[in-house]
Amino acid sequence: MSKIIIAIDGHSSCGKSSTAKKAAANMAYSYIDTGAMYRAVTLYFLQNHVSLSNPKEVEKALENISIEFRINSAGQNQTYLNGLNVEDEIRKLYVANKVSEVSAIAAVRHAMVDQQRKMGKKKGLVMDGRDIGTVVFPEAELKIFMTADPLVRAQRRQIELMEKGEVLDIEEILENIKGRDVIDSTRAESPLKQADDAVVIDTTYMTLDEQVDQVILLADMVV
Ligand code: C5P
Repeated sequence: MSKIIIAIDGHSSCGKSSTAKKAAANMAYSYIDTGAMYRAVTLYFLQNHVSLSNPKEVEKALENISIEFRINSAGQNQTYLNGLNVEDEIRKLYVANKVSEVSAIAAVRHAMVDQQRKMGKKKGLVMDGRDIGTVVFPEAELKIFMTADPLVRAQRRQIELMEKGEVLDIEEILENIKGRDVIDSTRAESPLKQADDAVVIDTTYMTLDEQVDQVILLADMVV
């Protein structure tokens, strides 16, 4: 069976990454979490006090950033920034609160998209993000646009964060999710939007397994 590229885009915290990761594992495909890349860049910018309004500082910082993914002994995808495991740090709210602002910078997007295209040279890939089907791989054989009710997304996020020891008010999470949706969808540079040929999956009332089955079913229809 020939391998394809599956592009999964959509709103924040609607289950894209969990679905993409599990579908990729079931299909023996690679998985790339592009949100983790933008989060890692944001963490670097915060740690190094990079001024977002200074293009020279941004360019210089981007030259000093190396992002890679490694699989740990438990088989989990881990994000590395300049050789350090930052998987837990990039999921924290202080990074989430800044990531959409950083992701809206054209130079940041160009650097990330270049890397993502290189990662996708070999087919048999599930990549999730905001602009995968529209900008990174407009030729992807399967494009999915995921969404869900904002409150349900916030509740899921709250549980995820709680499992990692970060106890947060639902209102604070909801505000972050809605805020990111607005910035991501309205930015000038590759805004989040549904590709014309994308299949929409609303995960409000779906379980993770149902979401994964749906993606695999759609992929089977393509190959
Ligand atoms: O997917 P995740 O919620 O981890 O993404 C974090 C943020 O990174 C998004 O809110 C968005 O601002 C940015 N992002 C992006 N383009 C992508 C993936 C993520 O702008 N392809």
